[in-house]
Amino acid sequence: MMAGRFAGRRALVTGGARGIGAGIAERLVDEGADVVIADIDGEAAQRTGDRIGAWAVQVDVADPDAVQAAVAATGPFGVLVNNAGVDAFAYFTDVTPEQWRRLLAINLEGVFACTQAALPAMQDARYGRIVNVGSEAGRIGSKGNAVYAAAKGGVIAFTKSIARENARYGITVNAVLPGPIETPLLREMDPKAIEVVTAQTQLRRLGTVAEVAAAVTFLAAEESSYVTGEILGVSGGMALGG
Ligand SMILES: NC(=O)c1ccc[n+]([C@@H]2O[C@H](COP(=O)([O-])OP(=O)(O)OC[C@H]3O[C@@H](n4cnc5c(N)ncnc54)[C@H](O)[C@@H]3O)[C@@H](O)[C@H]2O)c1
Repeated sequence: MMAGRFAGRRALVTGGARGIGAGIAERLVDEGADVVIADIDGEAAQRTGDRIGAWAVQVDVADPDAVQAAVAATGPFGVLVNNAGVDAFAYFTDVTPEQWRRLLAINLEGVFACTQAALPAMQDARYGRIVNVGSEAGRIGSKGNAVYAAAKGGVIAFTKSIARENARYGITVNAVLPGPIETPLLREMDPKAIEVVTAQTQLRRLGTVAEVAAAVTFLAAEESSYVTGEILGVSGGMALGG
C-alpha cells in the first residue's frame, strides 16, 4: 500500500456498503482519503463506515434530487467512484418496462446524477478523478442481462464523453469493467453458472474485490494524471474472447 496517496482528498463511493464498493472505500481510507459511502442501504453503509473509518449517507442514486442534497451536505469531492449497481437475471422477452426502467435508473442514470452533482466543485477546483465501475457485460454483452449490459454500455460512452468535456478542468474520467468478482452475491449463484463465467476468462478464475480496488485507486489517484477516457477491464482477459 502507498500510505497517504489520498491524504487531503475527499472521496465519494456509491454503493460502498458492501461488495466491491466497500473494498474500494476501505482501500481509499487506508491510503489517507476522507471517504463518504453513499448507499441505498443506510444501515449497512453505517456499519461499513464504522468498520473502515468512513462517513456514511443513505441515498438512492436513482433519485437525482436526493443525490444533489447528499453531495451538497457531504462534499465537495476530489474523487467520485460511481460503483452502485444492480443486476437481475432474466431473458429479455420476460423483462417488463418497469424492470428495465429501474435497471437503467440505477446503473446508468445513477451515474449521471452523481456525476452532475459532483462535477461543478471539481471544475471550480480544477481537479477531479471520476472512476465509473461498469462491467464487461457492457462491452461484450451478456445473456440474460440485456438491460444491465445496455446500461453498462451506456456508462462506457458516458465515461468517454465526460472525459472529453472535462479535460480542460484537470478532471480525468475513466471506467473499470469488472469480470466475475468473488463477492458474497456471486457466491450465491448456481455453481454451474460460476463455472461457465470462470471459463470465459483467460485466467480461468474469479477476480477479487482487492484486484478491482487496486485498478480503481490507480485511476482515482493523482498519479494517473495522463489517463482519461480509458476503459480498463479487470476481468482476467474476458474481453479477449475464446
Ligand atoms: N460482482 C461482480 O462480479 C461484478 C461484475 C461486473 C460488474 N460489477 C459491478 O460492480 C459494482 C458493485 O457490484 P457488487 O458486486 O459489489 O454488488 P453488491 O450488490 O454487493 O453491492 C452493490 C451496492 O450498491 C448498493 N446499491 C444498490 N442500489 C443502489 C441505489 N439505487 N442507490 C445507492 N446504492 C445502491 C447496494 O445496497 C450495495 O451496497 C456494480 O456496479 C456492479 O454492476 C460487479
